[in-house]
Amino acid sequence: MRIPAAARPAPLIELRRVYKYYQMGDERIAALRGISLRIQPGEFAAIWGPSGSGKSTLCNLVGLLDTPSSGTVHLEGQDVTTLADDRRSEVRNRAIGFVFQGFNLIPVLSALENVMLPLQIAGTSASLARLRALERLGEVGLAPHTAHRPAKLSGGQQQRVAIARALVADPVLVIADEPTANLDSENAANIIDLMRQLNEEHGTTFIFSTHDQRLLERVGRQVLMRDGEIADERTLEQPKTSQVATLRP
Ligand SMILES: Nc1ncnc2c1ncn2[C@@H]1O[C@H](COP(=O)(O)OP(=O)(O)OP(=O)(O)O)[C@@H](O)[C@H]1O
Ligand SMILES: [Mg+2]
Repeated sequence: MRIPAAARPAPLIELRRVYKYYQMGDERIAALRGISLRIQPGEFAAIWGPSGSGKSTLCNLVGLLDTPSSGTVHLEGQDVTTLADDRRSEVRNRAIGFVFQGFNLIPVLSALENVMLPLQIAGTSASLARLRALERLGEVGLAPHTAHRPAKLSGGQQQRVAIARALVADPVLVIADEPTANLDSENAANIIDLMRQLNEEHGTTFIFSTHDQRLLERVGRQVLMRDGEIADERTLEQPKTSQVATLRP
């Protein structure tokens, strides 16, 4: 049975026949080759694949950090492919939070100041930014560590600060490119479970990439990349985090 278009939920993000080429001297590298993908609001999706399969390129396009060579990217129904760079940056700053492999915290700032920063850049008062940042740091289990600089925190704790920072301005989407690559397997699993818990509590859509197949058992929506193409896609029933997560600060 066909579902009428009006009854279908609008995707949060949609890629249509996206190609991305990189020029390396005389060589043209096809990093993405005809990707079509829809992510619905509230999904928790993993992009998995071997090194060089195009995961980062895909994250950069979905996160509006880069534009395709051809094809289109729609965010909340708006074609963002044709936007001028400054307009695309505006949309990105409003709608998307980022978590990086290397945590990317500012070393001279405390955990609290790192999390406050995006709000302060957006013009929020220091007192409100502080309140919001403390709330987020509490949610990621770091209430006792708000005054610490990144160097005083473990890798897992630093990544939690980065997650709090990504969420502090209430984005609709969080993109995390290999957020667990610098963590041991226990901390990696804890970070994925934490992101899932926040996804369930706030309804924020999460897309993260990984080359670690073991993490996929924690994720319902799986996009498997190979040689710049989607080799397989799965949507499995996902156990609630309460059944898998054991978070400790
Ligand atoms: N800036 C760039 N210039 C040239 N080639 C690039 C660039 N970025 C990526 N590539 C190439 O595009 C292809 C896809 O790279 P991408 O970084 O997206 O893969 P990946 O799946 O994220 O790999 P990894 O697991 O190693 O992070 C690779 O062949 C890579 O060498
Ligand atoms: Mg990568």
